[in-house]
Formats: sequence, structure tokens, C-alpha cells
Amino acid sequence: GDQGKIARDLLAHYDVHARRLPWRAPPGANAADPYRVWLSEIMLQQTTVAAVAPYFARFTARWPDVMALAAAEDAEVMAAWAGLGYYARARNLLACARAVASGHGGAFPDTEEGLRALPGVGAYTAAAVAAIAFGRRAVVVDANVERVVARLFAIATPLPAARAEIRAAADTITPEARAGDFAQAMMDLGATICTPRGPACGICPLRGDCAAFRTADPAAFPVKAPK
Ligand code: ADE
Repeated sequence: GDQGKIARDLLAHYDVHARRLPWRAPPGANAADPYRVWLSEIMLQQTTVAAVAPYFARFTARWPDVMALAAAEDAEVMAAWAGLGYYARARNLLACARAVASGHGGAFPDTEEGLRALPGVGAYTAAAVAAIAFGRRAVVVDANVERVVARLFAIATPLPAARAEIRAAADTITPEARAGDFAQAMMDLGATICTPRGPACGICPLRGDCAAFRTADPAAFPVKAPK
């Protein structure tokens, strides 16, 4: 089969329809700033793009780089985080900024393994930053991507058992080039077109690549284990 077709179809759509999110490099610019990518990915865990946007703007205005954030007082960062919830994220955020400042001279590690060693950076965040900020080929799977992949391959195994299969399938479609754009394009597709209920298959750039689209009920994927 043509393993590259899904990435090609998706990236062609992304080139025209990418959401202009504040942490993304503007079109034509150089690679995204690792600090901004890392900060956004931490904020976006369990929190929507709309809720994150004003916090991201305030944080980056006040602390424009990782050295500035590392030098902040705990209390001012906790106060600036107030309202975003999951406060362990804010404590880890500061611990991570300080680790990058003191242990890496202010430069984020540029590999998944190096990133994974930082406080509060799990497998998902390490893959996202490696791909988006450093252009590394990394398999980036969040809940949106999981749903898109489960549909593309009509994975019949119920969640959570399907996770390994979904990850393996995501690996097969992740391109060598533009892995960061590919990851963000998958997230955008899941957020705007391949939504949990009532997916907009009629405007989906991957309709022709999608096994679930050829079934009677594309939204039935991913399959959930009965409660
Ligand atoms: N959710 C988490 N990370 C994201 C990103 N980089 N773009 C869009 N949505 C996201």
C-alpha cells in the first residue's frame, strides 16, 4: 500500500487550513520556539485551546523565555496559573524551567529521550516538543489523534485495549519529514472535523483514506468497552 498518502493528503490540507494558534510558527517562519511549544503543550493537557490562549499570552508576555520563567518566584507563577487547574502542572512547569536553565544552559533538549527526563514531561509532551519544535520524527498521540487513527483504520478493538494498536498504526502513517506539522494537522483534524460526535466527513481531506468512512457509522470508532 501507499503509506505516505495519508500524510500527503493531510499536509496539503494543513497548508491551507492550519489553525493560526499563538504557539505555532507563522507560515514561512523558521521552526517554532521550543519554549513556546513546551509551555503550550503543558497548558493544553486537560485544557482546551480557547481556555489556554489568554494564559499563554500572559505567560509569554511576562516571561518571554525559559531563563525568565526559571527566575520567577513560585508564588507569582502559581498566581498567574490560577484558573487553569491541575496545579501540579504549574509546579512541574517551574521545576522544568529551572532544570533547563541550570542543567542545559537554557536550551531545551532536542530529543524525546532528553525531553522525557525533564520534570512534568511525559511521553506525549516529549514527542510533541521533539516533533513540533525540533522537527524530529516522533509519534504524537493524544486523545484527538487516537480517535482519528481509530477511524482511519476502523480499529475494532475496544479502548483502552486498542491503545497499542492505535499507536502502531499512528507510527505507520507518521512521515519522516514535517512530523511536527503532521502531528498538529492530526490534532486540528480531530478538533475541527473528525470530532467525537457528528464528524464532518463531507469536508474531510482523509475521507478517501478512511476505513471508518466506508462503514455505516464512522463515529462508532474508537469502540468503547461496555461499562
Ligand atoms: N493540543 C495539544 N497540543 C496542540 C497543538 N500543538 N495544536 C493544537 N492542539 C493541541
